[in-house]
Amino acid sequence: DKGGWSSFMAKEISEEPDAVANTIRGRVVDGLVQIPEMEGLDDETLRSIDRILIIACGTAAYAGMVGKYAIEQWARIPVDVELAHEFRYREPVLSPNTLVVSISQSGETMDTLMAVKYARERGARTLSICNTQGATIPRESDAIVYTHAGPEVAVASTKAFVAQITACYLFGLQLAQARETLSTDAVRALVADLQKVPDQLREVLKSGDRIAELAHWMADTRSVLFLGRHVGYPIALEGALKLKELAYIHAEGFAAGELKHGPIALIEPGQIVFVIVPSPRDERSLHAKVVSNIQEIRARGARVIAIAEAGDVAVLPHADEVIRIPLASPFFEPLLAVVPLHFFGMELAAAKGLDVDQPRNLAKSVTVE
Ligand code: M6R
Repeated sequence: DKGGWSSFMAKEISEEPDAVANTIRGRVVDGLVQIPEMEGLDDETLRSIDRILIIACGTAAYAGMVGKYAIEQWARIPVDVELAHEFRYREPVLSPNTLVVSISQSGETMDTLMAVKYARERGARTLSICNTQGATIPRESDAIVYTHAGPEVAVASTKAFVAQITACYLFGLQLAQARETLSTDAVRALVADLQKVPDQLREVLKSGDRIAELAHWMADTRSVLFLGRHVGYPIALEGALKLKELAYIHAEGFAAGELKHGPIALIEPGQIVFVIVPSPRDERSLHAKVVSNIQEIRARGARVIAIAEAGDVAVLPHADEVIRIPLASPFFEPLLAVVPLHFFGMELAAAKGLDVDQPRNLAKSVTVE
């Protein structure tokens, strides 16, 4: 039931705040993270792990990329992300101290399932982040962190994506607590910020009308580029995937730092570029670098749509359009920045008269290799 919405996707985007809130619910005790279902991986085991490998496909792999930045930073453990279908055909080096984390909305993606089985047979420990209770992948794993996004019907993933990222944050914080790599106060502060995200997402949903206008103006565009840096990079990839899937146009996401290593050659007058701008408060000073990227592409005639935090005035003179997101911890910005991109993919598809729930050639869950 679409509940009065024009499509399942419109409904599911509107549910992104609840997907995050419901994934956090029941996992915070006294301001700290306690995921009850993690019993299969107790604190002692979490302390013995020396490497994490996240495996997934499509959008779920982009959620894993965001997770990598957070988990590595907080738990001080090396994290790699790999597409499930690449992973098991290269004889990866695994040990009982390797934790393989799979991420899957359906829990039935064949490539991911086979990768989990492969990892388990070779002695690695396995954790499944999954949105579907009792699905095959969680049943094949040592421990499960369910995302509570609710059933996702539209083929293109939206609310499951933000729930997957949230689950990665919770897992990263639980790991940091077990390994004592963050102080209790630091964890509490991050948890409190994460708990603010659902309300902040409700704010971001208000940008939907403006994005619909932009998408309708751009209905004839043949190519859109997305730039992001640090945790904004996977969001650029996600924005591009949604446009390919839904609007059938060429779209590519790049790490902003990579621009001058090649992609800048693509910039010509009129090229539309979405830029996810890091917070000016970020101590890594990535904001200035990305603003300078914007200047470089604008000087070559690109039309820039910036997604930037409230109060970031430095970006204003350089962008054609600024979509605002509320102030959050830099690690949590991906949750806020992705929603305008989900809207954009859906609205551009709608402007082209396409079926946003059932894009051509795609299945909701890919159960063949
Ligand atoms: O069910 P899964 O999360 O394992 O599915 C993985 C991908 O097939 C999925 O995310 C796909 O990329 C979506 N169509 C993205 O919108």
